[in-house]
Amino acid sequence: MITVNVELGDRAYPIHVGTDLIGQTALFAPHIAGKSVTIVTNTVVEPLYGDQLRAALAPLGKDVHTVVLPDGEAYKNWETLNLIFDALLTARADRKTTLIALGGGVTGDMTGFAAACYMRGVPFIQVPTTLLSQVDSSVGGKTGINHPLGKNMIGAFYQPQAVIADIGALRTLPARELAAGVAEVIKTGAIADAEFFEWIEANVAALNRCEPEALAHAVKRSCEIKASVVAADEREGGLRAILNFGHTFGHAIEAGLGYGEWLHGEAVGCGMVMAADLSVRLGMLDEASRARLVRVVKAANLPIVAPALGAERYVDLMQVDKKAEGGAIKFILLERFGQTHIGRAPDEAVQATLAAAVVKG
Ligand code: NAD
Ligand code: GLY
Repeated sequence: MITVNVELGDRAYPIHVGTDLIGQTALFAPHIAGKSVTIVTNTVVEPLYGDQLRAALAPLGKDVHTVVLPDGEAYKNWETLNLIFDALLTARADRKTTLIALGGGVTGDMTGFAAACYMRGVPFIQVPTTLLSQVDSSVGGKTGINHPLGKNMIGAFYQPQAVIADIGALRTLPARELAAGVAEVIKTGAIADAEFFEWIEANVAALNRCEPEALAHAVKRSCEIKASVVAADEREGGLRAILNFGHTFGHAIEAGLGYGEWLHGEAVGCGMVMAADLSVRLGMLDEASRARLVRVVKAANLPIVAPALGAERYVDLMQVDKKAEGGAIKFILLERFGQTHIGRAPDEAVQATLAAAVVKG
């Protein structure tokens, strides 16, 4: 097992990465102070890992409840969030109750938001079970839900007590979901570490095959990078926005098609291709680097051609992005691997990228 720490002073926490961690009582024990625990999971993950987690918690002698949510991005909303509050209140959960998010990013984001709100804040632990949630969403304390008009628009910054990333859980992950996770790995390498990006290019096939060693390295390095960005800029005053590379276009794809139509990681994969195209048009990125990015996104079995929502609709949706200020869209652009630039882009260049994105990669 490897441990990466997120250095946030009195809110610092460990990210444990390894195999067969869900069953390890000792990893949970230091982070559960109260008498009760509520596991939040969904209809897919509960039958796979629910018993394993409850068995790990049993020796701690806690009162353990489980709430099972419907599965999918389409349920990342107020109605589903309320099911968590219903369960907490029914179980008479108190201020020391610990929530445990067992599942992917949808479960983690909603559980974290519920933890931030319930009694104005109770502790929570992330047990991410998708590659995407292990490399990205479980780390850094962004929690929330979607609104029909914009992705992740309602939420809170709220850090977990610990992240327990069990690589073994990825064995049951469908290939399409694995690919969605690889998208965030590619993003992390592209924005922050040219050497890691090269490693991804060389190992993308091993990641596609779900090889444990490759996955462990990808999760560890992605978490190290994300932990250092979050430690430097927890509430996205500046630097943290680089983690949104590909997301401005990607969130527009997700909201525009209807949540759940494209997976978040698929939208990010295509969104990175679009952001790289825009970077080339603005004279920031060289064509060879753009082509490398497109190649690795394609090799990860991710889409490189954007859905034809119409340019006007893309722009409308991008204006709702959290990075937009006074309606002006901010893009995360690439200068070279490991180096980004955050800024605006002339309308003509954005229109040209949108026109190119739906016909070629
Ligand atoms: P997800 O939570 O929907 O999980 C994907 C699918 O895999 C679901 O059907 C889930 O039930 C299933 N699943 C989970 N673990 C499994 C396992 N081990 N075996 C088999 N099936 C399993 O999606 P995701 O890709 O994990 O997360 C996407 C969400 O994360 C989006 O809502 C996105 O906005 C959010 N996100 C948040 C952050 C953040 O910083 N908070 C960062 C990136 C993404
Ligand atoms: N996934 C973007 C962030 O955590 O800031």
